[in-house]
Amino acid sequence: MIRLIDIVKAFVRGISRSKVSLFGAILTTITFPILLISVILDIQGLIHNPYYGFILYLILGPLFIFGLILVFLGLFFFKGKEEVGLFTHEYLKEQFSDPTRFERVRRIIFLAVFLTILNIFIVALVSYSGYHYTESVQFCGQFCHTVMHPEYTAYQNSPHSRVKCVECHIGAGAKWFVKAKISGIKQLFAVAFNTYERPIETPVKGLRPARETCEECHRPELFHGDKLYIKDKFLPDEKNTHVRTVLLMKIGSGGFKGMRAQGIHWHVAPENKIIYKHRDRAREEIYEVDLVKPDGTKIVFKGADWEKYANGDNLTSEAGVRVMDCIDCHNRPTHIYLSPDEALDAKLVTGDIPTSIPYIKRQALEVITKKYDSTEEAKNTIATELRAWYKENYPDLVENNAPLLEQAIKGVQQAFTENCFPEMRIYWNTYKNFLGHRDDSGCFRCHDDEHETEAGETISQDCDLCHVILAEDEAEPEILKAIQGNGNCD
Ligand code: HEC
Ligand code: HEC
Ligand code: HEC
Ligand code: HEC
Ligand code: HEC
Repeated sequence: MIRLIDIVKAFVRGISRSKVSLFGAILTTITFPILLISVILDIQGLIHNPYYGFILYLILGPLFIFGLILVFLGLFFFKGKEEVGLFTHEYLKEQFSDPTRFERVRRIIFLAVFLTILNIFIVALVSYSGYHYTESVQFCGQFCHTVMHPEYTAYQNSPHSRVKCVECHIGAGAKWFVKAKISGIKQLFAVAFNTYERPIETPVKGLRPARETCEECHRPELFHGDKLYIKDKFLPDEKNTHVRTVLLMKIGSGGFKGMRAQGIHWHVAPENKIIYKHRDRAREEIYEVDLVKPDGTKIVFKGADWEKYANGDNLTSEAGVRVMDCIDCHNRPTHIYLSPDEALDAKLVTGDIPTSIPYIKRQALEVITKKYDSTEEAKNTIATELRAWYKENYPDLVENNAPLLEQAIKGVQQAFTENCFPEMRIYWNTYKNFLGHRDDSGCFRCHDDEHETEAGETISQDCDLCHVILAEDEAEPEILKAIQGNGNCD
């Protein structure tokens, strides 16, 4: 009668005979308990540190699997083979015909099956949790802290802060999975060897969000009608006068069930395919726009410099052709970097910067738009320059209401640190926002009244095409009085 313990002993002997197996066994034995306990803790939601997850899933997990592979390699192909002695025809015949030997084989199989199931369970658990870890906002946004700090900060302050990075950056299906992981490995190397771009270039190679990722949640064909936009602003005068711009935005629709595609989301209707040719990487210099109808007819709008580029001459490798999608307008749905004006207005409207401090908008604007080499330098200069200016010009304020000034300084510093990241060479306007027409970019890349068909039709810049301006920088807009009843909207 052969006891289980003997089999285990034979197994261990087999392992110890081969150095390869032995090394593998040591690896698995050490990593096994750490992995098991950590994975259980992680599943309970007790692990928040992104570096811990990295060590767990991207170092210990693979080491465990590597160890297992070594054990088996050693047992079957190296020295351990002699002890286990599988695979030869005679050996197997002998084992199966002799009843006592057969008992031994049975137990070996039993042990092997048991160990395999255990290993598969651990490997599955680690792969599953590891997969979730590499898809987490923690990993994408915080692991490479300095690198992703700007994107992560802007993301956290955006309407999409509850949407995981992968939901926009990685599409559904196996193809995207492979693409994303290969890209991820490249990025880890770039960080490890400090070869990443500063700032990170847009578009992100391979992981640019696609139309279908947005359409998991949004359905522009169902949008309809117009929407009122009220923008709060503050003038650079002594009182930091609060003014408003009111626009009726023609959101429109992509067309649905007989409803006609119209307004701004007319571009995404299935019957309107817009293809544009650009000659720079940022896609700001567009020399041709084609509107292709379902029957194949094509309306070609040619830019002023069309002749120069049409036949491919004078183009660099940065040139390209694109079918227009959501991201050609919504290129900043979540990494929204504000302009200096917008950043300060946002802090003034929430009261983070008190509007009662005279000239605070003007002085803040002056100091945050200087060029800084580090975040520390920026914060220090903002504080010292504002303190100095108010001490000189409003000594009463500094004397009697120092905390108010300090609060303002903090708000101004935040306006800077939420939008500028000198360490990654991101300053005001490094990343352009195409939603609108700041600096004649965005919509005006095409809507410039200069892209023209043979028949002389242009892509219109008519100020009422996209919105109706109901008030512009007015302290008490009549229109708000009309729709809000009292006109006192503070
Ligand atoms: C709502 C969708 C969405 C979410 C969620 C999202 N991104 Fe993005 N991301 C974008 C778009 C759109 C771009 C710009 C693409 C373009 O212009 O080609 C972008 C660009 C980037 C870039 C390139 C640099 C830049 O600012 O253009 C990085 C890096 C990036 N995202 C990282 C992240 C990280 C990290 C997270 C999670 C913390 C995240 N993204 C979440 C949509 C998203
Ligand atoms: C997982 C779901 C999800 C995905 C994917 C997603 N969004 Fe959103 N989006 C939302 C939610 C939810 C809101 C509303 C947030 C709120 O009102 O606070 C929103 C809001 C918006 C808004 C309005 C923002 C505002 O200022 O009110 C725009 C524009 C937008 N998304 C565009 C996009 C684009 C473009 C993409 C693709 C790159 C995208 N979204 C991908 C869920 C998603
Ligand atoms: C031609 C440019 C353009 C295209 C293409 C475009 N949008 Fe928009 N979208 C806008 C503008 C402009 C607004 C309103 C202005 C704003 O939100 O600041 C808007 C508003 C939205 C809103 C907010 C609607 C609301 O009622 O508040 C969502 C969500 C949105 N778009 C999603 C999408 C999605 C998803 C796609 C792609 C299928 C898309 N958009 C394509 C320009 C565009
Ligand atoms: C890549 C080029 C391109 C860009 C960028 C672009 N458009 Fe257009 N847009 C077109 C073309 C082409 C037409 C059709 C012109 C025509 O047929 O007269 C059009 C038509 C429109 C229309 C009229 C739709 C209708 O009801 O017939 C609106 C509104 C509009 N665009 C808004 C916008 C807004 C807002 C933006 C920026 C957020 C924008 N567009 C950016 C190419 C563009
Ligand atoms: C192709 C569409 C389109 C056309 C044409 C257009 N606009 Fe706009 N405009 C927009 C969009 C979209 C926004 C909103 C930008 C945002 O959400 O920040 C905007 C915003 C504005 C704002 C408010 C900006 C702010 O932040 O205070 C003003 C003012 C404005 N437009 C003036 C004009 C004038 C004047 C014209 C005519 C020369 C014009 N627009 C033509 C699409 C257009």
